[in-house]
Order: sequence, then C-alpha cells, then structure tokens
Amino acid sequence: MEVVIAPAAELARLAADAVEGLLRGNPEAVLGLATGSSPLAVYDELATRHKEGLSFARARAFMLDEYVGLSADHPERYRNVIEKEIASRVDFVPGAVQGPDGLAEDLPAACAAYEQAITDAGGVDLQILGIGTDGHIAFNEPGSSLASRTRIKTLTKQTREDNARFFGGSVDLVPRHCLTQGLATIMAARHLVLLATGRAKAEAVHQLVEGPVSAMWPATIMQLHPHATVLVDDAAASRLQLGDYYRQTYADKPDWQGL
Ligand code: F6R
Repeated sequence: MEVVIAPAAELARLAADAVEGLLRGNPEAVLGLATGSSPLAVYDELATRHKEGLSFARARAFMLDEYVGLSADHPERYRNVIEKEIASRVDFVPGAVQGPDGLAEDLPAACAAYEQAITDAGGVDLQILGIGTDGHIAFNEPGSSLASRTRIKTLTKQTREDNARFFGGSVDLVPRHCLTQGLATIMAARHLVLLATGRAKAEAVHQLVEGPVSAMWPATIMQLHPHATVLVDDAAASRLQLGDYYRQTYADKPDWQGL
C-alpha cells in the first residue's frame, strides 16, 4: 500500500494522472467511479484534461453504489450525481457508465446482473474510492463480509448523518438502504486509488492503513490488495503513526515511478 500525504489539489492531480496514464495506455480501460465529496476535485481535473484532449470515448465505467428507492430524477440518485459530476463533462458514449439499479423490482437480481456486467467488461482497471468516517468503502458498512459481492446493505446512522448534507441537512430524507459493490468486488479491481481529506477521516485512515484487517473497519481489506494507493491531506493523515515515514518515502520516490 502506498500512502501519499499532500495538499488536496495535488492529490486530485495525482489521481487524475493515474487515470490519464491508464487511458493513454489503454483507451478501452474500465474505470470505477465513486460518488460523494472526495473525488470531486479529481473529476474537475479530468474534465479539464478532457478539454485538452484526453478522451473517454472508448472507455467504460462502473459506479460503486446506489441508493435504493430514489426516483429516477432525484438529484441525489447516484446515477444522476455521476452524470453531472463527470459523465456529462467528458465524452463517454451513452451507456458506457453503469451503476447498480436501485429502482429494480428484483434487487437481488439487479445485484447479480451488476456483478456479471463488471465481469463481462473484463473487470475494473482503476477504482476511485472515498472512505466513510466509519471506515466504509463503497457502502460496505462495519460488519460487512470481507468476501462480499454486490448486494443490498442497510446504511448506518453515522453514514446517514454524514450524508444528510446532500439532502438539505435532513437525515430523514437519506435513504436507509443501498446497493453496493462488495468488498471482494472492489478488491478484484486492478488498482485501488482512495482519496481522503479532512480531520473527520483521520481515524478511518489510521485504521485503513495501520489497523488490523477487520470487518469492523471494512477499508482495512485494502491492506491485502497488491496495488492500493491512499491519497490523504495533512488533516486526514493526522492520526497515522508512521506519517513521517510515508512523507519521507514519497519525497524520496524516483520521478519515473508513477502511482
Ligand atoms: C460513494 C461511496 C462512499 C463515499 C464515502 C465518503 O460512492 O462509495 O464510500 O466514498 O462515504 O464520502 P465523502 O467523499 O462524501 O466524504
């Protein structure tokens, strides 16, 4: 696991560099897209690079998760969020970005179909991730099976409170259920790039990088991934025991070595 501690703007550039490098080497790459605040600066950077010539026209993308039951036109439905924040700002072809169907009549069947769609696409090459204050990645809340696949999950009170800011501050408007890629689904991606900023994420980041692998902090499963990159600002890094070592390692990193 590589840990990079840097200002937020630099983290966004590094993540965008990884996406750009992937697409330049393989224009048909499969991206994994997260919603929430953490990736927004990366999406802004990618939109800028698209204007400068970076194409997504042959790429595909899979979203991490979706609320259950939000109407098709709800602005916080994750499909609509991803459309607004990235898909509509670059040149993905229609249908190239897929997400779990939180309005399906048969939700378990929709989850199984989603897993199959990812497999049929050849798997995800680069997965962008955020982390919840409770240590979730996607919506794999504490207690999630480390071997889980796409399924229905119940959101914790903590996550619903954290996300109330997207629903006018009302926790009651935040759905109680979601469909989410499982931890094993995420672990099958070939490169994981997680972004975290702000002090509220410090304990989750400490557990992710330095805690024991445990379903209580689901992101800790990333310690078992052969290519995981954790991009954090000073505040999110403030509880890391080996923070100085990660800073030194990054400062000493050879120029030719990408993420
Ligand atoms: C969203 C997702 C979540 C968020 C996490 C952090 O698709 O998968 O795991 O990444 O809740 O959210 P923000 O970035 O809003 O702090």
